[in-house]
Amino acid sequence: MSVQRTLHLGLMFWATGTHAAGWRHPDARADAAYDIRLIQEVSQAAERAKLDFVFLGDRLATDPALQHSNPAQISRLEPFTTAAAIAAATSHVGIVVTANPTYSDPYSIARLLASLDHLDGGRTAWNLVTGADAAAALNFGRDAHWDTGKRYDWAEETLRVVRALWDNAPGPDGRGGRPIHHRGTYFSVDGPLDVGAPPQGQVVLLSAGTSDRSRDLGAREADMVFAGPQPTLAARREFYADIKARAARYGRADQVTVLPGLTPVVAPTTEEAVARYDELNSLLVLAPEEEVGELVRAGGIGEGYRLSRTSASRLFGVDLRGCDLTAQVPAETLAAVSEEGRRRLAEITRLTRRTATGPHRITYGDLVYATPTQLSHTVVGDPYEVADMIQEWFEERLADGFNIYPSSVPGSVTDFVDLVVPELQRRGLFRKDYQGTTLREHLGLAVPPRRSA
Ligand SMILES: Cc1cc2nc3c(=O)[nH]c(=O)nc-3n(C[C@H](O)[C@H](O)[C@H](O)COP(=O)(O)O)c2cc1C
Repeated sequence: MSVQRTLHLGLMFWATGTHAAGWRHPDARADAAYDIRLIQEVSQAAERAKLDFVFLGDRLATDPALQHSNPAQISRLEPFTTAAAIAAATSHVGIVVTANPTYSDPYSIARLLASLDHLDGGRTAWNLVTGADAAAALNFGRDAHWDTGKRYDWAEETLRVVRALWDNAPGPDGRGGRPIHHRGTYFSVDGPLDVGAPPQGQVVLLSAGTSDRSRDLGAREADMVFAGPQPTLAARREFYADIKARAARYGRADQVTVLPGLTPVVAPTTEEAVARYDELNSLLVLAPEEEVGELVRAGGIGEGYRLSRTSASRLFGVDLRGCDLTAQVPAETLAAVSEEGRRRLAEITRLTRRTATGPHRITYGDLVYATPTQLSHTVVGDPYEVADMIQEWFEERLADGFNIYPSSVPGSVTDFVDLVVPELQRRGLFRKDYQGTTLREHLGLAVPPRRSA
């Protein structure tokens, strides 16, 4: 059990950043989602910093509601073609691609992932998701999004077939492929695969859902588990312990790396970092007040984003309508906020260092910008403060590492890579160089033995 733990870091690629104002930041480029040079340069920055991987999500449906929060997610390149271009521009960094079994056949998934693993020399991971967007069903000849049970039953059979196809795929000389003759509940697949066995034997598997079924699949099968946002540190601790306990029951406690998302807003000094955070927030687009309360669309990531003085009033339980966003909030008003409001005030102070009564006072803007649910935990500070937080979560067993969400691109990527990674390396927490060339090697995982069908 006393295997030396090492910190793992990946980079989530959203072309104009993950912050809801990243697309309005001076860094942002309107064509970023299609600028393959930019995508390659960001991946090269990740590789320079010896990060474990670059992550490419996928959604299979678009959501116009994203136009005010993350327009580069409305339309973008699909992950496999993007990954091939990243593979050609890099040599070590892992490449995570998202493929959703709900809308893809196991044979297709197996050959795409095996092909990519050949192209990138064993650096591929599969982010197995069952779908964040209910609207995807309407693009694939279905009336409705399947329920969780059906999606995970389907995904688990898909995974069994994909792994059997890889285990029985031909060798590098094109020989030795064996049929699998799979006859399951959902699929009939004969095999063998028409692509050679992936260099990693089994492509690294990542799971990123939130449901109980997803936790179970992650603990039983995945090499990496992405953890979504959690409301409290206690919930974060519970998630980590739960995945590890479940994995232990499957005899693989040391084989699952748990990675929450982390948005670092970092600068050489704390003051500059807070100024960067304030600049981003000041670029947020407020919804017209009269539209608040309308639901935008079912089941999309744009849905949660409604930012206005009215919604902030509702959340904090005090009337903020008509307020000047730059003005300080009177201490009496802050004393009257709701219980949820008090929790958000503590967050505001943690992020901005502003308080109700001190020399730097909380502003109305702070309240309004604190309304939406964040995509991930955010930390604002100088390189030492950010490294402290990473070290603490790692040592306290809240995380085995992080999937870094850059709030703007490319500035937040280079800030993290140039300011925080060297500090983590100096502390002996993060690798100074890659020890191998495959993602399995970065994760300290052996190539599994081949099992015949
Ligand atoms: C960091 C992270 C990244 C994710 N990326 C995607 C993605 O690219 N596409 C997607 O459909 N779902 C993605 N999801 C997972 C979906 O949220 C998940 O499939 C959905 O919630 C349904 O699974 P569940 O019912 O287990 O929650 C991601 C989740 C996390 C935590």
